[in-house]
Amino acid sequence: MKIFLDTANIESIKKYNDMGLVDGITTNPTLLSKEKGNPAEIMREIVKIVKGPVSLEVIGTTMEEMVNEAHGLKKYGQNVVVKIPMIPDGLKVVKKLKEEGIQTNVTLIFSANQALLAAKAGAAYVSPFIGRLDDAGHEGMTIISEIVQIFKNYQFNTDVLVASIRHPLHVTEAGKIGAQVVTLPPDILGKMISHPLTDKGLSAFLSDWEKVKKENPNLVI
Ligand code: G3P
Repeated sequence: MKIFLDTANIESIKKYNDMGLVDGITTNPTLLSKEKGNPAEIMREIVKIVKGPVSLEVIGTTMEEMVNEAHGLKKYGQNVVVKIPMIPDGLKVVKKLKEEGIQTNVTLIFSANQALLAAKAGAAYVSPFIGRLDDAGHEGMTIISEIVQIFKNYQFNTDVLVASIRHPLHVTEAGKIGAQVVTLPPDILGKMISHPLTDKGLSAFLSDWEKVKKENPNLVI
């Protein structure tokens, strides 16, 4: 399973990239709005730090606007994947960009049928937002199972990128289903690393070793 970070925060990206955990990045206008500084500069920096795919989202909603923005964003680096909203003109843009060899990630997917159509149009990734479905009283993970099954049935060459993840169990469930990618807010990745029993166990090992050192003052390991 690939792990992307869902953030535009450079510090978090560097922190987890240094641990070898970051296969890619997803950003969106909301995530960029949370950071200080010029968003264009931030996006350029992210593209330089991370070797894997970096999804950068268009703001326009007409075909012309989205295609122009996509061409501009693609100049930031070869690893840029253009994020396109799941709207009718968006599907036209996905088709056109695929013909030009530019990868797209179709975002704001809330049903298996939307994912199916995005894949048919030629998306490299589809981003179903499971947390927002959960928030609305649905079982978000259900559409992940459906999409993974549909893509498998018809051999679509489109990765399921599970987005709007709210807690570590979402990641476990997505992995069990076989989704190719999860994109995580940095705090969720932090929660996945830590476990209270790990901390407790390490603390016991260290305090027991202190006793050993007292009994063997010249011990070197
Ligand atoms: O990648 C999409 C994601 O950022 C949406 O998450 O938490 O705003 O629903 P959220």
